[in-house]
Amino acid sequence: MSINEKFLKEFVKVTQQASIATLPKIGKKNKNEVDKLATDAMRKILNNIEMKGRVVIGEGEIDEAPMLYIGEILGKNIGQEFDIAVDPLEGTNFAANNSPGALSVIAVSHKDNLLHAPETYMSKIAYAAKIEKGVIDLDYNFSKNIKNLADFKNKKIEDMTICILNRPRHKEIIEEAEKLKIKTKLISDGDVSGALLVTDEKYKVDLFLGIGGGPEGVLAACALDAFDCGFQGRFIFDDETSIKRANEMGIFDLKKKYELKDIVKGDSIFCATGITNGELVKGVSMAGNYFDTDTFVTHKSKNIKKNIKEKVQKIT
Ligand code: FBP
Repeated sequence: MSINEKFLKEFVKVTQQASIATLPKIGKKNKNEVDKLATDAMRKILNNIEMKGRVVIGEGEIDEAPMLYIGEILGKNIGQEFDIAVDPLEGTNFAANNSPGALSVIAVSHKDNLLHAPETYMSKIAYAAKIEKGVIDLDYNFSKNIKNLADFKNKKIEDMTICILNRPRHKEIIEEAEKLKIKTKLISDGDVSGALLVTDEKYKVDLFLGIGGGPEGVLAACALDAFDCGFQGRFIFDDETSIKRANEMGIFDLKKKYELKDIVKGDSIFCATGITNGELVKGVSMAGNYFDTDTFVTHKSKNIKKNIKEKVQKIT
């Protein structure tokens, strides 16, 4: 069953309005305040949609997030039932410091078709389309993956580029990449965008990998699925609380390697509107009574993969 195309417009509006709402607090150094503006606006627009929506990935558990918490029911409570994953502000540091790369993100599937991800880290790997099974695997070491990929693409290893979060936990991979003379695109935050750089040759990223947020992994996976890209992820559980939360969400195999088909099933919609300028999308800006917005969208069943650049008014 495919999601009616009218919903694409509705969900684009959600991330557009969340992005517009952040403008007064961009660069004001307060991560919580700018995040709250995006979250409030996103929730308000979602609640106006004729659907029965349920947050499967949101701002946190009910006890820690008053808005868009996991399990929150959204929409006018009529019509189709959807699972909704949100990150109203992906890259809170970027927005607070007015640096490039902040986005507002949503992913939607029919009910029960989206993985309910706990708030924990995930080891991830993403690569471009049309690569045979067995060339890349989360369980291979980094050298094997990058050498296999270079062979597969018929490229010299020194012409390969990886994208990875700049974190001490990735020291070994970063050093190995340096030894192999591979180009490394280090990102300081924002691994939803990082993962999506494998979707088009123009971004010049062959492989995205490393440990980042689990929820961000699920969000990126929805868009990667529409591009027929490859993605694998495995949650990292390092304390009893996260294990308990995972169990409550129905996750008992704590070492499971998730393929795309385990993360998102059937049709999906993904929208990411730029808050500050980035590689995927331009940042939101005011143009008289309107706002210029740029949204990266995918709608799997309709084979839609494009940027929607629109002048829109703020909905108050
Ligand atoms: P926030 O927008 O929630 O701050 O997340 C930014 C981010 O960089 C994600 O893109 C990434 O998955 C995660 O943080 C990495 O976490 P950490 O900063 O703990 O390494």
